[in-house]
Amino acid sequence: MEQQYFIEAENLGKVYRSLFGLREVKALEGLSFKLSKGEVVGLLGPNGAGKTTTIMLILGLLAPTSGRLRLFGKDPKEVAVKEKVGFLPEESYFYRFFTGEEILHYYGGLFRIKSNIRKERVNALLLRVGLWEVRKRRLKGYSKGMLRRIGLAQALINDPEFLILDEPTAGLDPIGTREVKELILQLKSEGKTILLCSHLLGGCAAGLRSNLDALSGKGHCRGADWSGLGEAGSYRNRF
Ligand SMILES: Nc1ncnc2c1ncn2[C@@H]1O[C@H](COP(=O)(O)OP(=O)(O)OP(=O)(O)O)[C@@H](O)[C@H]1O
Ligand SMILES: [Mg+2]
Repeated sequence: MEQQYFIEAENLGKVYRSLFGLREVKALEGLSFKLSKGEVVGLLGPNGAGKTTTIMLILGLLAPTSGRLRLFGKDPKEVAVKEKVGFLPEESYFYRFFTGEEILHYYGGLFRIKSNIRKERVNALLLRVGLWEVRKRRLKGYSKGMLRRIGLAQALINDPEFLILDEPTAGLDPIGTREVKELILQLKSEGKTILLCSHLLGGCAAGLRSNLDALSGKGHCRGADWSGLGEAGSYRNRF
């Protein structure tokens, strides 16, 4: 049987055009990669390299200008494939009058998760991301780091097979950053497939097997396979 990849990108390109096509920005050119089940892969690259654009293409929120992308072997615009995906955007825009607990119930409701399962899952996630104590506080009173954590919990509410995290450690202090990285490794050990992007991981990329080449046409961006990280033992030293 042919292997089913979570993502297959072939020669992907994206050009942003202004209204009437007067201005063009070439965000991606010739990006090809495959992502298999159980892999934890980072898209690494400087600001503007095309990381967020790649994620938007994977989620079907943008259409590629050239090339082809399959998510679970299907067109990313198909709604059904999105049920298997959890997404932490670069910036989360939540309704700030909800409490942390309420927002997770709200998103759980959108996925039609039964109330008893939802309650268990929300409680477990609040504990997991370290927000249990502030679960009754409205989001307008959350710090930047707390909002990032609630975003992570929201990305996990549907118990996704595949998790896409855009700058998961943005706005977190060093302890929060370490905790999030530990959470990512825990999720990996639970068999989740994860694609994350960051411009901060450059320093750690050297020791990792690079498997996503030339993310952008500018050749700035590269990918690294995090699958060896957990076993490397030097994880804490790296970050
Ligand atoms: N909606 C848009 N319209 C025009 N140009 C855009 C748009 N979104 C992104 N771009 C451009 O595309 C390029 C890639 O942007 P993208 O946001 O994908 O980069 P990134 O790697 O995520 O950067 P960062 O590390 O800053 O988040 C940049 O030159 C950016 O200015
Ligand atoms: Mg980005």
